[in-house]
Amino acid sequence: MDKENQQKRDIILHIRRFDPERDESPHLEQYTVKVEPGMTILDGLHQIKQNQDSTLSWRFSCRMGVCGSCAMLVSGRPMLACNTQILDITDRALTLAPLPNFDIIRDLVPDLTRLFEDHVAIQPYIQGQDAEEMENPTGEFFQTPHELEKYLQFSYCIKCGCCMTACPTMATDREYLGPMALAQAYRYNTDSRDRGYESRKSVIGASHSTFNCHYAGECSNVCPKGVDPARAIQLMKRDLVLDYLKLKKRKKACRVMGIPSDVERKPSIPFPPYTVEQK
Ligand code: FES
Repeated sequence: MDKENQQKRDIILHIRRFDPERDESPHLEQYTVKVEPGMTILDGLHQIKQNQDSTLSWRFSCRMGVCGSCAMLVSGRPMLACNTQILDITDRALTLAPLPNFDIIRDLVPDLTRLFEDHVAIQPYIQGQDAEEMENPTGEFFQTPHELEKYLQFSYCIKCGCCMTACPTMATDREYLGPMALAQAYRYNTDSRDRGYESRKSVIGASHSTFNCHYAGECSNVCPKGVDPARAIQLMKRDLVLDYLKLKKRKKACRVMGIPSDVERKPSIPFPPYTVEQK
């Protein structure tokens, strides 16, 4: 056997398959892939698709742990397929399944409608104090390193859904807003440029929301980006209680730093024409 083949190992992948047009319920199918050091789960899936079964379906895009679309359940733990090397976690067999707590569209493809609806519900954008400045900026908002640190960790979220999959409250309460959306609400509420707390309050303070988290902490355990949603939710509980007791501190006004007169502002880049007709 040559050196290249010596490094390869046969690993068995048990993959949950489901075709809504053919199957009444999901079932496991078994594949053997030739794995060499450095090969990710995503590479293994491509190998199966190319050489064994072209009907296998899953989601992916960036292949570098940034877009969040390849999240799946790997031997019971939610992970990013593109970010996980097979030989790091097994030398024999793996089971792959779609993310639980979501409906299944097909094979390893979950229906993430719930994730995106929850995200939209918390208004995930900066709501500035000065609408005119937000619309036609005259400079940049000043933010100290300390103000940045307050929300920076929570801004690393890539919306992969791993936290929503690991959360026991998500599993039992179909209306629960979930750790991703709640952590993102805290991320914006804590941003010194944002004044959206009052308009988010009706969502984060409602039932099936912040106070339904009983701090199992699994969301933070599985987050591939180290976001720590469990911490964000506990801090948001504190903010809501302080607000209820009328003890919540008001944010300081966020200064706008004008552009120095000797700095030439770059002209904004015009939007390219749309590829499809706008209605
Ligand atoms: Fe983008 Fe895995 S393909 S995170």
